[in-house]
Amino acid sequence: MTIEKPAPASADIGVTGMGVMGSNLARNFARNGNRVAIHNRTVAKTEAVMEKYGEEADFIPCESLDDFISALTPPRCAIIMVKAGAATDAVIEELASRMDEGDIIVDCGNSLFSDTRRREAALRERGLHFVGCGVSGGEEGALWGPSIMPGGSPDSYKRLGPMLESISAKVDGEPCCTHVGADGAGHFVKMVHNGIEYADMQVIGEAYDLLRRALGLSPAEIADIFAEWNRGELDSYLMEISVEVLRQVDKDTGKPLVDLIVDAAGQKGTGAWTTQTALSLGVPVTGIGEATFARGLSSSPKQREAARDFAGKAAQWNIEDRDAFIEDVRQALFASKIVAYSQGFNEIQAAAEEYDWDINLGDMARIWRGGCIIRARFLGEITRAFEKNPELPLLIGDTYFYDKIVAALPHWRRLVSLAALHGVAAPVFSSSLSYYDGIRAERLPAALIQGQRDFFGAHTYQRIDKEGTFHTLWAEEGRPEVEA
Ligand code: 6PG
Repeated sequence: MTIEKPAPASADIGVTGMGVMGSNLARNFARNGNRVAIHNRTVAKTEAVMEKYGEEADFIPCESLDDFISALTPPRCAIIMVKAGAATDAVIEELASRMDEGDIIVDCGNSLFSDTRRREAALRERGLHFVGCGVSGGEEGALWGPSIMPGGSPDSYKRLGPMLESISAKVDGEPCCTHVGADGAGHFVKMVHNGIEYADMQVIGEAYDLLRRALGLSPAEIADIFAEWNRGELDSYLMEISVEVLRQVDKDTGKPLVDLIVDAAGQKGTGAWTTQTALSLGVPVTGIGEATFARGLSSSPKQREAARDFAGKAAQWNIEDRDAFIEDVRQALFASKIVAYSQGFNEIQAAAEEYDWDINLGDMARIWRGGCIIRARFLGEITRAFEKNPELPLLIGDTYFYDKIVAALPHWRRLVSLAALHGVAAPVFSSSLSYYDGIRAERLPAALIQGQRDFFGAHTYQRIDKEGTFHTLWAEEGRPEVEA
């Protein structure tokens, strides 16, 4: 096909990068009444989109970036949907050099929030808006309604927001899209969403593993249990797809497909970013961290091979009360999931403070209720908790979640103990319980660590009984502590 020159200012919004995500977003915009200009570095891809979907809507295909820019109605809104990293910087520069003051560049990829902050500051200097926009929901979501987390200036949201809201998922008539906060706030929240996604997937994995090992259940039987759980408070998209995955039978062998899949989990890096960022902010996100490390462990073939004959093979399970054990697993799953969310929200709170973002935490849970990978019934409760107390220091301190945790405790403790006794790894179940016991402890062994630090490095410490900063001359017997 030949692509004709587009009429100037004929499009409301443009999308460059016609991969599946880019073309699906463009189709979603078009279906929702927005006139969309589309562009790709290699024209063939734009042509392919036109051939496949051209009948669907009045796309405005553009051969060159000059045409793309001229097709956009000022103030221009151009979405880039390319690979995160250097490719994004290159496309931003190509667009920015052709744009005018007040125009908006939107990065809908999974970019690192610090890159977004850098790009936003640089473009602001040039009079342009840069919006780092988290989009969750995979390919289907992009086409039919994702959860959208845009950052950038409030001004840019005035122009961009209605269009993004038009394509987002809707729950109870409300769009799963809101202005998250300035500069990199949108990509930050999307990053934490992905971190929580890792933890959520891992706890489902741990539940599956324990049910299988302890009760000898088949994947299909576990799918039935998960399907049942999915009708209650554990109702979520990830639970729903786990049922489908576990029920899948391989056509060639007749075996459960899950048994034929290599047990090495991949990752593209957003879980690691969430963990690294939490480490630098000093926020304990043990659930997300352990889930990320668990993927790393599964994908360490050399080490796993070397450890294959290590002692500690699982002792024989002998569960007398099958239903009670299933309930232990369900409760441990739910409690660990609540802890992971609580920690993720703490990371958002810490970043909001660090970067001066005005993030409404209840709204974040609200826009995650639909479209995104972690959509789940209990997100409504998170919104309610933060609406009741926007300064809530700990999600697990909210009455609803606290009651759930307290109810889960005996089950959770029993399960973590049983897993340890039988030599089964349950890193998120057990580290989440440790987190709970640590955060509620009246005294922590951190006092001893302070003493050790002061001993070898004169790092000083504070006392519980008097004001000030102290240093003890530890090795010199009888020497008193001194005010540092
Ligand atoms: C989403 C997903 C999406 C992607 C993940 C997968 O919200 O739509 O989170 O961003 O599927 O990046 O991440 P891993 O490959 O690291 O599992």
